Amino acid sequence: MFQQLEMAPADPIMGLSAAFKSNENPNKINLSVGVYQDASGQTPVLASVQTAQERVLAAEKTKSYLSIEGSAEYGAAVRELILGVGHEAADRAITVQSPGGTGALRLAGDFLAQNLGDRPVWISEPTWANHPKIFASAGLQVETYPYFDGCTNSIDADALLAALGQIPSGHVVLLHGCCHNPTGCDPTPATWRQIAEVVAERGLLPLVDFAYQGFGDGLDEDATGLRTICDTGCELLVASSFSKNFGLYNERVGALTLIGADADAAERALSHLKIAARTSYSNPPAHGAAMVREILGDAVLRRQWEGELAEMRERINRVRQRLVARLSEQGVERDFSFIEGQRGMFSFSGLNAEQVEVLREQYAIYIVAGGRINVAGLTEDNLDYFCSSVVAVL
Ligand code: LMR
Repeated sequence: MFQQLEMAPADPIMGLSAAFKSNENPNKINLSVGVYQDASGQTPVLASVQTAQERVLAAEKTKSYLSIEGSAEYGAAVRELILGVGHEAADRAITVQSPGGTGALRLAGDFLAQNLGDRPVWISEPTWANHPKIFASAGLQVETYPYFDGCTNSIDADALLAALGQIPSGHVVLLHGCCHNPTGCDPTPATWRQIAEVVAERGLLPLVDFAYQGFGDGLDEDATGLRTICDTGCELLVASSFSKNFGLYNERVGALTLIGADADAAERALSHLKIAARTSYSNPPAHGAAMVREILGDAVLRRQWEGELAEMRERINRVRQRLVARLSEQGVERDFSFIEGQRGMFSFSGLNAEQVEVLREQYAIYIVAGGRINVAGLTEDNLDYFCSSVVAVL
């Protein structure tokens, strides 16, 4: 039976990393998958994570299952991280511990498809390449709304708000909480207020993908959009990932938080989320989430982690400045200064499909189709080679 199968295409992001690994060019640079690298090109285990891991291992008494929804303490810590201390929405929220942010998104998709009928999910154009596939796999119809203006390299807020204003009531709108993937362009606080107003007025159901909290401007600053939406009192879903901000990529640590109209609605929803989780992965992996809980629950470790997170964020912002300066030093006429204003790991570089392909084939520089580069993959060792290669393809 399997012989009849056609080869499926490689994943547009993970597939590039696999191709990068097998390339023998000594100058090769991987700017594809969103994984942080430090100034020496390493993806370190954070010191706070290292300490938390030692404590978790020392205290561990069993490898027995967690409950379907995962640890209650972890859930409470996640809600406080995303909503802040004492937000009213926490009283009408539940959290399910999930295998990564992708797991949280798929859980949301399954829950919606299984319980809330035919409810299309609207995603930004462009968005993370995996978004449409996750929701389509869950059986949901996927639609797009405009987001980005390639001429100004910024959000097209008018088009975005106008489109949201046309989406039928009850449909799901996927919003990126911060560090929009792939553009790196986030709404301003004023635009978030407008988005929240439209969402509440039209009775849309926001699903906030919150994979980069702390990578933009800070933990609380990055939650502005999410908290502004919560302030309207509407119902929403939030998919958190701790791959990036805790560097826990391969531990698969995430959470789906559902905020209902009231606590009773949230409890009812939880009973269905548990069925969706049980029929998918049964119950979540424990180890990574235990470390996150340990860090968030210990004042000293938490301060250390916040410092390490700030260091990652600040390095990325410094690289943005160096990249813009180095491109201009190398004689590039095109104005790339917009890269400095973008936030998070990614920059939508403005390089077109052909340029991306030439960079990969001739220079062994791996960039996601569409021109998204992982800024964190640039170091002092490879920045000149990257810039001169960009000059050549331009
Ligand atoms: C990315 O966009 O590169 C990351 O979110 C990693 C992934 O799973 O694609």
